[in-house]
Parts: sequence; C-alpha cells; structure tokens
Amino acid sequence: MAVSKKSTKVRTEPSQSRLTTWVKRIGFLGILITTLGWLDSIKDRWYIFEPAFLHELAQTAIASSPNDTAGMIKHIVTNLTETYPDNKIRLNTHQDWVFNNAGGAMGAMYIIHASITEYLIIFGTPLGTEGHTGIHTADDYFHILVGEQWAFRPGQLEMERYTPGMVHLMPRGVAKQYKMHEGCWALEYARGWIPLMLPFGFADTLTSTLDIPTFYNTARITGREIIKNLLIGKI
Ligand SMILES: *[C@@H]1O[C@H](CO)[C@@H](O)[C@H](O)[C@H]1NC(C)=O
Ligand SMILES: *[C@@H]1O[C@H](CO)[C@@H](O)[C@H](O)[C@H]1NC(C)=O
Repeated sequence: MAVSKKSTKVRTEPSQSRLTTWVKRIGFLGILITTLGWLDSIKDRWYIFEPAFLHELAQTAIASSPNDTAGMIKHIVTNLTETYPDNKIRLNTHQDWVFNNAGGAMGAMYIIHASITEYLIIFGTPLGTEGHTGIHTADDYFHILVGEQWAFRPGQLEMERYTPGMVHLMPRGVAKQYKMHEGCWALEYARGWIPLMLPFGFADTLTSTLDIPTFYNTARITGREIIKNLLIGKI
C-alpha cells in the first residue's frame, strides 16, 4: 500500500537529511525576511503624493466651495489631474461610490487612486458613524472636509477632535476608536503597504453585511486601479 510505504520511508530517513531540510527552510525564511525588510526600507521611492500638498489642497477645496461637498470633491480631483501627469500616476475621475464597512463603522467611499504603496479616497457619511480604525501597515492622513471626526486611544480621558481643514495622522501600527460625528466627509490618504490593509477593509463585509455586490465592486475597482497603475510602472 502506498501509504504504509511512504511512512516507512519517512521513518528510515536519515536525520542528516532532515537537518539539511530545516537548514534550507530557515535559510529561505532568512532571505525572505531580509528581502521584505529591504523592500520596506525603500518603499518611499514609489510615493507620488506629498502629505503637505494634500493638506493644502484639502484646505483650498474647503475655502473654494463652502457648504458644497460635491464642489470640494470636484476641486480636488480637477487639481490632481492637472498636477500629476497621467503617465506617472493613474487617477480615477469616475466617481464610482461604494459602501465601506470596516471596524464596525460604515460609510461610502470613492477611490481616486489605489496602487501597491498609496491610496487616496473620499470617505464619509451624511449620517455619522463610529468604530475601530484598524491597525494598518500604512500611515494614514485623514483630511477633514466637512463635519467632525473624534478619536481616542486607551489611556486618554479626553477625545481628540478634528474639524474641517485639519488632518488626523494615524501612524502605521496605531489603533483608535473614532467617530464621525453626524455627517462627515474626508480626503483620506494612506501610504505604506496597501494590499495588507485590504483584509481589514473586507472583513466586515464578509462576516457581517454579506453585501456581495459591494464586495464585488470594491474588489473590482481596487484591483483595476492597482493594475492600471502597475502597467504605467507606478508601484
Ligand atoms: C492645486 O492645489 C495646490 C494647493 O492648493 C495649489 O498650490 C496648486 O496651484 C493647484 N494646482 C492647480 C493646477 O490648480
Ligand atoms: C453654510 O451653511 C451655514 C449653515 O446652514 C450657513 O449659516 C452659512 O451661511 C453657509 N455659508 C455659505 C458661504 O453659504
């Protein structure tokens, strides 16, 4: 019988070759960790957006379209398409909005840009929402356009309060509880390892809402944008 033959073979295998196998595995793991560490140390060279520029752009958008969220979004997208050449970075000018459920919070998003190392979205809700930010492998810059975002970390007894024109920076690895008090809209920019953020972005949909059309559309748009960027060499 094949099964007993195989187990006999394993039992008689010399411990020498088993040692070699393990040395190879550990060597491979070492190379993998070194490679990932190296990629992590050079990821900055693939960033195109500048946090200071985006902060200024968010503030200009607010000033140029008071009380007009749609006007702010239009201002941002128009400015970005005029600022960045389309052979350097791909921007999605078609406003295909999808629900976003993550960390217990719910809102809608419009993906302006998504690549391996950066994403830029409009996120928010006119109703308000509250949840866990998630622990991410990217730095996250949350530019408030309309409304307020509140946040806190364990140990803080007072909340942080972010109003239009302010930016809430969530460094890689940090987690908070946040609330978009009543209606709130933001320009969210993340830089780091974006694909590693996707499981958090999809977990609530797969385990709670089971909103398959949203899952499908989010995966389709994100995948499309990442691939279109890769095709022009934007990592
Ligand atoms: C884009 O916005 C920035 C920041 O407000 C501004 O300095 C720049 O002149 C704008 N560019 C265009 C092409 O409108
Ligand atoms: C914006 O809306 C607020 C509240 O409705 C109003 O008081 C204010 O005058 C509006 N500002 C502009 C510039 O329309």
